[in-house]
Amino acid sequence: MTAGKLGVVVLAAGQGTRMRSAVPKVLHEVAGRAMLAHVLAAARSISPERIVVVVGPDMPEVESAAAPCATVLQERQLGTGDAVAAASDSLADLASEGGDILVLYGDTPLLSGETLAALRARRQREPDASVVALAFRRPPPHAYGRIKLETDGAIAAIVEDSDATAEERRIDLCNAGVMIADGAVLLDLVARLSSDNAQGEYYLTDIFALARAEGLRSVVHETEEAEVLGVNSRAELADAERRMQARLRERAMREGATLVDPDTVHLAMDTRLGRDVVVEPHVVFGNGVEVGDGVRIGAFSHIAGAKLEAGSQVGPYARLRPGAHIGPGARVGNFVEVKNASLGPGAKANHLTYLGDAEVGGDANVGAGTITCNYDGLNKHRTVIGAGAFIGSNTALVAPINIGAGAVVGAGSTLTADVEEDAVALSRAPQTNRPGAARRLRERLAKLKAKSKG
Ligand code: UD1
Ligand code: CA
Repeated sequence: MTAGKLGVVVLAAGQGTRMRSAVPKVLHEVAGRAMLAHVLAAARSISPERIVVVVGPDMPEVESAAAPCATVLQERQLGTGDAVAAASDSLADLASEGGDILVLYGDTPLLSGETLAALRARRQREPDASVVALAFRRPPPHAYGRIKLETDGAIAAIVEDSDATAEERRIDLCNAGVMIADGAVLLDLVARLSSDNAQGEYYLTDIFALARAEGLRSVVHETEEAEVLGVNSRAELADAERRMQARLRERAMREGATLVDPDTVHLAMDTRLGRDVVVEPHVVFGNGVEVGDGVRIGAFSHIAGAKLEAGSQVGPYARLRPGAHIGPGARVGNFVEVKNASLGPGAKANHLTYLGDAEVGGDANVGAGTITCNYDGLNKHRTVIGAGAFIGSNTALVAPINIGAGAVVGAGSTLTADVEEDAVALSRAPQTNRPGAARRLRERLAKLKAKSKG
């Protein structure tokens, strides 16, 4: 049993040329989270002693995404073997104490902690195998490294697609890009790699042939392709997203939410849905959404950074932006946008409204077309609507403003001053009716028309 320490190295220095992007590849997101963050989460779940992320020059965003993990710089992107070598100094102590090193690639966002745990267990069960590579089966053609096995089942070599012979290309056993190894063996092997191959790179995968030549044994641990899909292009990013969405929808349903048409619901990694939540078709969840029990979310709603308390109802066509807090039993209807605003228990804003930087008291009713004018072009201001207040339709509330509890605001008002509790506020031109004036107007216009034709 090698129950020694574990160090993890995550390779994230590649430019990701095939993405054709100004953004480093590992920062492209799957289900609202950078690919690198997915890989780090999987790594953390098996509690390693240390995680080191290999980054390229001028990648401050990758360094921040890696924090609080240590980062090391790979000066030039000379290949995956060179990238592991760049982390040597940071892992040497751990390796010399007999620890293992797990190598992960930053572009495999679907990798799960369970698979890593299984890989580690395999290495512990089979300590005479110095390296265990994660592998999967996929019929060619594809661009993954091909794993060649000896008759005894050990790995003979891994051949990159661009270096493979026609015969090797027919091999369906693929390198997932994840391996766990005796740390000292790995660091020794990567220090001896050469770049004599089709791409002129230091391939990490060449360590298997080197190991074999030294009489060291390496084996494969097989998993599903869906776990280890490598993202190199936008199309593969979309494929990873699709698979992750399928996982998230399954989780939501397992935990007791109804997704009426699951394939049309887009979730984020951190979306939390309570029991008996009903999500109608075509709802999009951005990051940071928490939904309480029994909430109904109408079709075509877009929700991010929002908390929906038990029994509330939103949509169809609701837009909840960060800081929206919908109280228990409150209702937000169609074409209502809520940003950094709370609705108290039982409050309603059912149609065509913007509530920004606002607080709406319990059971208040916000009429159709109400707008909180929160922005003066330079600063944001707050609107407070007291409990049980009634805001008539098409009201503009020019913030900062305070509408007292139980107050009534007449439809069509533009309010710029506070309204005290239980008062009625109106600000619109008084109505005048002139009996018969419409008929007289029509007669006058008809005469004019006749004259101009005649
Ligand atoms: C690699 C494997 C291939 C495997 C596939 C699985 C090698 C040589 N090939 O190919 O056998 O089937 O992954 O997805 O390892 N990186 C660096 N520095 C570098 C080069 C790459 O940090 O100099 C990082 C990249 O950011 C990326 C990862 O290493 O996260 C893998 O590099 P990539 O170029 O995508 O390798 P593949 O060609 O996909
Ligand atoms: Ca890749």
